[in-house]
Amino acid sequence: MAFNYADTPGNTDWFIHDRFGMFIHWGVYAAGGRHEWVKKYEQMTNEQYQRFFDHFDPDLYDPKVWAKLAREAGMKYFVITTKHHDGCCLWDTKLTDWKVTNAPCGRDLIRPMVEAFREEGLKVGFYHSLIDWTHPHYTIDRMNPRCNDEEFVKANQDRDWSKYVAFLHGCVRELLTEFGEISYLFFDYSYSKSPAEGLLKAGKGKDDWEAERLIDMIRELQPGIMINDRTEIPQDVITPEQVQLDKPLVNDDGKLIVWEACQTFSGSWGYFRDQLDWKSPEMIIKMLIDGVSKGGNMLFNVGPTGRGEFEPRAVERLQAVGKWMRVNGRSIYGCGPCDYEAPKDARFTQNADGSRIYAHMFSWPFKHLYLPKLGPVVDYAQLLNDGSELKIVSHDTIHPRLPETQQDTLILEVPVQKPPVDVPVVELFVKRQG
Ligand code: GLC
Repeated sequence: MAFNYADTPGNTDWFIHDRFGMFIHWGVYAAGGRHEWVKKYEQMTNEQYQRFFDHFDPDLYDPKVWAKLAREAGMKYFVITTKHHDGCCLWDTKLTDWKVTNAPCGRDLIRPMVEAFREEGLKVGFYHSLIDWTHPHYTIDRMNPRCNDEEFVKANQDRDWSKYVAFLHGCVRELLTEFGEISYLFFDYSYSKSPAEGLLKAGKGKDDWEAERLIDMIRELQPGIMINDRTEIPQDVITPEQVQLDKPLVNDDGKLIVWEACQTFSGSWGYFRDQLDWKSPEMIIKMLIDGVSKGGNMLFNVGPTGRGEFEPRAVERLQAVGKWMRVNGRSIYGCGPCDYEAPKDARFTQNADGSRIYAHMFSWPFKHLYLPKLGPVVDYAQLLNDGSELKIVSHDTIHPRLPETQQDTLILEVPVQKPPVDVPVVELFVKRQG
């Protein structure tokens, strides 16, 4: 019983299987070390922002190290910011001089990254910002860092939007023709709906990006590619940001919808030196499990430093997640929502042929684990971390006996000590029919 996902134009099979990817937000804003939105948040002019460009020199950059950390964390694909909202391109584009090859950095950052991650067996995805805070023809609206500066707005009234659209489409064409097979294109983002008034009311969306034509070109260049939803034209995947869903997404025909939550270590996507609200490895693991139990993927972000490294706080957590994934990955890869409802403090996933159910224990129970309705369904149970049997015990062991209505509850005897993994997983073998 493979999972019943609704069809989409692109190929999502690998994606539904792989479940866990690495997002990378990197650009000259890493030199600011205080959020990739620093230009907007501090309402910087191009001249003020220039200093990050002029000091962006990632001399320690070695994408092989990044790729290895991603693979060892259990991630199967990665998505890199080719251009973020500041407009600065990380590859050696022919379409603008606002690219890192002209910074002290002096090199194309994307090409060696793509090669290194492929080498480690990960699929390649590109994030590309539709928004651009620097392009001279991106017409001014509330998104511009200087939108409150009347003189700036007046001086920039003659911008020619069609030139920006040509640039946007041209960049995407380069990205899809010069780097081999790209599995995933993550656009960011549309903001056509606005609560504000006047100039500040103006936003941009699918018609502005000429998204239909853009998507046609993409499908022609790379037919199987997955495209996200943020052009405002739904394609292959819905991409909620920094939230956990409370149930699977289902369409009107009752089919599952492909989705992926993108998440951060500490709130910011780009490197943020002073942000302290870092998630624990246990929380990150639980977020991944929770998503898969609801039919979703998790794209977990790293914001490399201006020197070109993953900082120790990130490395430490990636390694802890990898330690868990090494032994428990079987409950994540190729798995999705389960036909049975999990008890409180647990999340169920199930493999595609339905032969195994994985109970992820968010808290560890004393002595017995009660799994409603699974009595007639399961004939063997083990801890996934060490493959040791958990005995199925009869209802007579329990005093007082469970009520009649709960006679189909599966009761497992569990050790008093929580198994030595961040989130213990119980692997349940479903009885063969007939
Ligand atoms: C947002 C932010 C951004 C980040 C992205 C990740 O829309 O603008 O900085 O790149 O989401 O999903």
